[in-house]
Amino acid sequence: MANHRILIIGVGSIGERHLRCFKATTRAELCLCEPNEQLAKTVAERYGATRRYASLDAALGDRPRAFDTAVICAPSHLHVPAAKQLVEQGVNVFIEKPLSTSLDGIEELIQLIERKRVTAAVACTYRSHPAVRAMKQAIAEGRFGRPVQVVSTWGQHFPKYRPAYRRIYYTSRQTGGGAIQDVLTHAVNAGEFLVGPIDKVMADAAHQVLEGVEVEDTVHVICRHAGGVMGCYSLNQHQAPNENTITVICEKGTARFDLNNARWSSMTEPGGEWKTEMQFSLERDDIFIHQANLFMDVLEGKAAPACTVAEGLQTLRVNLTLLEIAFNPKWCPVGPK
Ligand SMILES: NC(=O)c1ccc[n+]([C@@H]2O[C@H](COP(=O)([O-])OP(=O)(O)OC[C@H]3O[C@@H](n4cnc5c(N)ncnc54)[C@H](O)[C@@H]3O)[C@@H](O)[C@H]2O)c1
Repeated sequence: MANHRILIIGVGSIGERHLRCFKATTRAELCLCEPNEQLAKTVAERYGATRRYASLDAALGDRPRAFDTAVICAPSHLHVPAAKQLVEQGVNVFIEKPLSTSLDGIEELIQLIERKRVTAAVACTYRSHPAVRAMKQAIAEGRFGRPVQVVSTWGQHFPKYRPAYRRIYYTSRQTGGGAIQDVLTHAVNAGEFLVGPIDKVMADAAHQVLEGVEVEDTVHVICRHAGGVMGCYSLNQHQAPNENTITVICEKGTARFDLNNARWSSMTEPGGEWKTEMQFSLERDDIFIHQANLFMDVLEGKAAPACTVAEGLQTLRVNLTLLEIAFNPKWCPVGPK
């Protein structure tokens, strides 16, 4: 029974997916806002969206208004201005990751959200993943003792999965491009979800392989999460194997989320066997359907946001610090002693 009325803003890669996945929940009626007219028409027809707008002004000006909530899927530097415009008019917002590419306007947005009493959250996908949520709960319950280390290893051949990467926001850091803001932010945000916010970082990043762009495609981060938990995040966007694991090592056991092997598992016996805690579907839409359902539960007051705007801001602060330090790290030469 559709009772949410949702505007998808930007129906490129992720916007079309959100449109499809919100529709799949059967809990929402959908309309869209997209300046590329041909794309807007094609996507609207594909999913039977009856209203489409060429701009946010046109969407907000239409009466009677066709939506109460907007999912902001335009490139990242546009997220905060769009969110402020929507919240000002009392519209709930679900904002794609990363929250933004700078801190501009975010404090005002947070105050506006409180003043207007709307629901707002950041679409940090992994926080809605049932396996990540179950693993977080097991860690929080103390099943493995105190967390002491996070090791996150991500790699994928970006051109295979996003052949258009040279023609989209990815090419420039100003529009949210580069490995740090585009992909590493998912890992960092998930790590913060699992063990708490990152307090301090060191990093190295470079453009190593991807043709046709100059932004970084390879990143190494070491960090400390709250309470001194040591962290280590590696990522590249050019290797052949798909790898995506986040391992949380605790005093009495180890927990691992492994996206490509579709499970989270644990090991408590030294030299023992991995115990599969949860096996999940590898169908990519499923996680977005979970995310859509969870967000609509939040709208209905039945759940807390998986990632609040304040939590999105914390991860943004990590991104911005990494961008400041990762291209000129303080190396210690290994000379003759
Ligand atoms: N959660 C995830 O897994 C995930 C995956 C991909 C992208 N993203 C995020 O989603 C956002 C969009 O990424 P994408 O890959 O879909 O990009 P994309 O380039 O495929 O699509 C962006 C769309 O926004 C439209 N757009 C541009 N300006 C607009 C405006 N003012 N109003 C409305 N629409 C506008 C463009 O025409 C385009 O169709 C980025 O912030 C990105 O970081 C998240």
